[in-house]
Amino acid sequence: MTERVKKYSKAPLPFVGQKRNFLKDFAHILDSNISNDGEGWTIVDAFGGSGLLANNAKYLKPKATVIYNDYDNYVERLQHINDTEKLRVLLLDIVDKYQYVKKQKISEQCKQEILTAIENFSGYKDYLTIGSWLAFSGKIVKTFDDLAKINLYYRIVDCELNAESYLTNIHITKQDFKKLLAEYKYKEKTLFILDPPYLCTEQRFYKQDNYFNVVDFAELINLTRPPFIFFSATKSEFISYINFIMKNKSPNYESFINAQIIRKNSVINKDVFYQDNILYKFA
Ligand SMILES: C[S@@+](CC[C@H](N)C(=O)[O-])C[C@H]1O[C@@H](n2cnc3c(N)ncnc32)[C@H](O)[C@@H]1O
Repeated sequence: MTERVKKYSKAPLPFVGQKRNFLKDFAHILDSNISNDGEGWTIVDAFGGSGLLANNAKYLKPKATVIYNDYDNYVERLQHINDTEKLRVLLLDIVDKYQYVKKQKISEQCKQEILTAIENFSGYKDYLTIGSWLAFSGKIVKTFDDLAKINLYYRIVDCELNAESYLTNIHITKQDFKKLLAEYKYKEKTLFILDPPYLCTEQRFYKQDNYFNVVDFAELINLTRPPFIFFSATKSEFISYINFIMKNKSPNYESFINAQIIRKNSVINKDVFYQDNILYKFA
C-alpha cells in the first residue's frame, strides 16, 4: 500500500502565523472549487511557513501536485524532531522535580539546570521550539544566549512530538515567491495559496532576515491571478488596498474582480481582537 499524507490540525512544531484556525474554511474553499481528488491540479503554497496548508491540501486533494515553499527551512526542524522530543523529555524531568504548575515562573536554580542540560545536549537544538516551552509568550528565542537572558516559565507541552506522514508526497522547494509564482503564473489548473507575512506586524519569528516590505507586497499583487486563495489581516490593510486598486483600475485589478471574501474575527485577549480575511477566486 502506498503511504498517504496524514491530516494535521496544527503544525508538528511551533510556528507563528500557522493557519490552524482557518483549516475548516480552507477545506470548504478547496472542496467547493476543486472536484474529487484534485487530479490534474497543481497547488502552490507560496508562503508555506509550517507547511500546514500544503499538508491539508494534499490530504484533501491527494491526486493534486502540491508544492510547499519552505522559505524558513522548517523541514530542517522537522527532520530533527526526534532530537527535539528527547530534549523535551529531558527538560520535563528537570522541571518535574520542582513541581511547578503550568505557566509558573521558573526559579533561578531550575533555570541554571535547564541551561546546563541544553548546553550539554549533543543533538539538534531547535531554539524556536525550546523558546515556545520556556519563554513568556511573544518573546523570541533563536539562540542559547536569547534563552539565558530572560526569565523562564513552565510551558513545556505534554504531548509527544511527531511529524509522521506530514509531508508525504508533497514537493518541497525553497525560493523567493516572485520566482516561484512567475514560474507557475501561466500554468493551467494551478492554484496559488498566498499567505504572506502581514505588513506592519512582527516578522522576526521568521528565519529570513529580509523584511517582507510594501514593495514585495505590490509585486505579489501584480503576480496574483485566479485561481488563488489569499490570506490577510485587517491590520495589513489588504482589503482597503484591493478596493483602492479596483477603484483606480490599477495594474492587475482584473484578477480581483468578483473575488469572494470570508471574514474571521480572532480574539487574542479581552482587549485585543482583530479580523482576518480570506479572499479567493477560482474563475
Ligand atoms: C504568515 S507565514 C505563512 C504561514 C503558513 N501559511 C502556515 O500555515 O504555517 C508567511 C511566510 O512567508 C515567508 N516569507 C517571507 N518572505 C518571503 C519571500 N520573499 N518568499 C517566500 N516566502 C517568504 C515567511 O518566512 C513565512 O514563513
